Formats: sequence, C-alpha cells, structure tokens
Amino acid sequence: MRRIYLDHAATTPLHPEVTAAMIPFLGERFGNPSSIYAEGREARKAVEGARAQVAEALGADPSEIVFTSGGTEADNLAIIGAVFACGREKAHVITTAVEHHAVLEPCHFLESIGHAVTYLPVDGSGIVDPDAVRKAITPATVLVSVMHANNEVGTVQPVEEIAAICREAGVYLHSDAVQAAGALEVNVDRLGVDMLSLSAHKLYGPKGAGCLYVRKGTRLKALLLGGGQERGMRSGTENVAGTVGFGAAMELAAREWRERSQRILPLRERLIDGILESIPYTRLNGDRERRLPNNVNVLFDFIEGEAICLKLDFQGIAASTGSACSSVSGEASHVLLALGIPPEKAHGSLRLTLGRENTAEDVDYVLETLPPIIEELRRMSPLYRP
Ligand SMILES: Cc1ncc(COP(=O)(O)O)c(C=O)c1O
Repeated sequence: MRRIYLDHAATTPLHPEVTAAMIPFLGERFGNPSSIYAEGREARKAVEGARAQVAEALGADPSEIVFTSGGTEADNLAIIGAVFACGREKAHVITTAVEHHAVLEPCHFLESIGHAVTYLPVDGSGIVDPDAVRKAITPATVLVSVMHANNEVGTVQPVEEIAAICREAGVYLHSDAVQAAGALEVNVDRLGVDMLSLSAHKLYGPKGAGCLYVRKGTRLKALLLGGGQERGMRSGTENVAGTVGFGAAMELAAREWRERSQRILPLRERLIDGILESIPYTRLNGDRERRLPNNVNVLFDFIEGEAICLKLDFQGIAASTGSACSSVSGEASHVLLALGIPPEKAHGSLRLTLGRENTAEDVDYVLETLPPIIEELRRMSPLYRP
C-alpha cells in the first residue's frame, strides 16, 4: 500500500544529497578528527567544512557553532550551561509554558537545585506576550528561553521583539529553532538571539546531530567533560558522518527554505480548510497566520487523537497526536493545555505536518480518508452528543 508520511515535525527522511555527502564517512573515511595523520586531517576538514556550512546558513561565525547530538543536548547546554556559568547560587530563568520537554526538563532540574524559573503563559493561539517577558525579568534573571516555532501547533513566537527586551535588560536569550529551521529564515543577527538550538533530523538531515549556536562572548559552562573537543564546550569524539550530513542539510535548507515553504503553504491551507469544512465539531489549534507553513493541528470533539492516528495508519497515512514524546506518556499535551483547551478535549487532537515530498494528491487522499474515520469513531464514542 502507498504510504503518505505526514509527520515531518517528528522527523524527516534524509535528503538524497545529504545521504550522498554522508556515505564516504560511514565507509572509507573513518578517521578521528583529533588524529594528526592524513585520515584524521581528512575527518577534521569534513567537520570544519560542515561548521562553515552551518554558520553560513545562520549568518554566524564558524567559531560560534558547537556541534551536539541534536536539539535536546543543545537545549540542555544552553539552559544549564548559562546558569552554571553565571556562578550565582540562585539564578532566575524565564521560559514559556509551551516549550519542548528538552527545554522544560532542564528548567525543572535547575529548580530542583535551588534556582528559580518563570513559565510564562501564552494566549489562546500559543503566542507569548513580549511585555510579559519584560515584566518577568528581575535582577537575578540570567536567561530567557523562548522557542522560535512550536513543534505541536506550529505557532511562531515574536523572537525579535523579545530579543530587543533581553538586550536592553542585559540577559541572554536562547531560542529553540529546531522546528523553524528549514521552514523559516533563521538568521541569528536578525533574530537577535545569543544562543539557538538546531537538530539535523528535522530538516532532512540525520538523527543524532545538531548544534548550539553560541554568540561570541556568551558565558557558558560545558556539560560534557572529557577530551576537550568543540573548543572544550562539548567533549566526545565528533559524529563525523552525522555532522557532515547536518552541514549539507543546513546548506540545502538555507538555499531552499523559501521555495519549500511557498510550495507547502497552499497544501496546508487546503488541508486545514478541507478538514474544517467537511467535519463538524472541529477546530484549528494554534494561530492561523503566525504558523509554520507545514503545520496542521486540529481538535476533534468527542474522540481520541490516538484512535484517529491508528485508523489513519491502517489507511497508509502516518500522522501523530502532537509531539512524538507525549505520545509515549499518554498525558494530555502541555501545549494544548497552555492554549486553554480543557484536558478532556486536548486528547482529541491530530497533527499533520507536511514535507518536501508531499503532493496535492496526498492532501486529497487525507481529505477523502479522514471524514469517514472521524464519523466512525464518533459513532462508537459514548461522549458523542451532536
Ligand atoms: C522544538 C523541539 N526542540 C527539541 C527537540 C529535540 O530534538 P532532538 O530530537 O534532536 O533531540 C525537538 C524534537 O522533537 C523539537 O521539536
């Protein structure tokens, strides 16, 4: 059966050019970048080439890129590293209620060892008010962490405005741009961030690779200690093949993001309109305008998102209820709860995230397949009171 992959927020397939760039480093080019002989020098050259590609795509200097194992590690390094580096016994961090767990959990850890964290609320479409950031800053504030775009509902945050506030107050701004990169322009100077997290596997690169951009002069303590790789910011032998793939994926993203987004946007609109028009008791989660071009997240009353996903899977469609992580825990999404959706309704959400290989035919197939599934599930639901 033909498969239609609509979960690009969870992960993306490798771009063929990325695969081609990586293959030599999974085979004959196996050297350790720290070795001084030819094989090592070749690996070092490849890693530094990837660093230049990533820096160029972000408008950064290569020395400001710290390669990591992905978005989770980059978020941990930014948040815990900035607080540890400030040397205060009781530092203060500001973040939002809709961040990925890779930001929220390091914040919880900091609270557990005596630091303070403010979790700012968002409005009904998931946007944080820059003025709330301004008001939350205290003399103890070291860092503000606000994601560029949300992984569940696709809402794009006013990062530039928040950056201006942070700069004025003299506090660092970190942004998790894992979902934004490849879909929006991600330029560190235009955004005004001090740190920014990226993950290769969300932009047609490999899993297990990513980086933290660290603006020159930002004080940060390393979390992984050892051989001193990545200028001491991240010890451990480099993931050469993954890093090369990440570099290639970032170069492609910088070149193609606009074209990719322009092609996908009408598909997203058709999907949203088609679902809302053909299925009653349904609403769009997140902001209609300030939204990633590939994100559709809808709430269906009376039924569970998990059941919809299973039925869609049987029909050849890969979709999810929200983040890949919360589908394991079975709890209502903290993002939807923060948007003011009651827990019993939050379970009825479905996320469809488009990618570069999706077509108008894929959208047509979803619009044919989904309404009978919803109808069947509602007929079986004891909650269904039309
Ligand atoms: C917004 C966001 N941040 C961080 C991560 C974690 O990235 P990684 O899978 O590379 O650890 C994800 C992945 O789902 C994400 O969507």
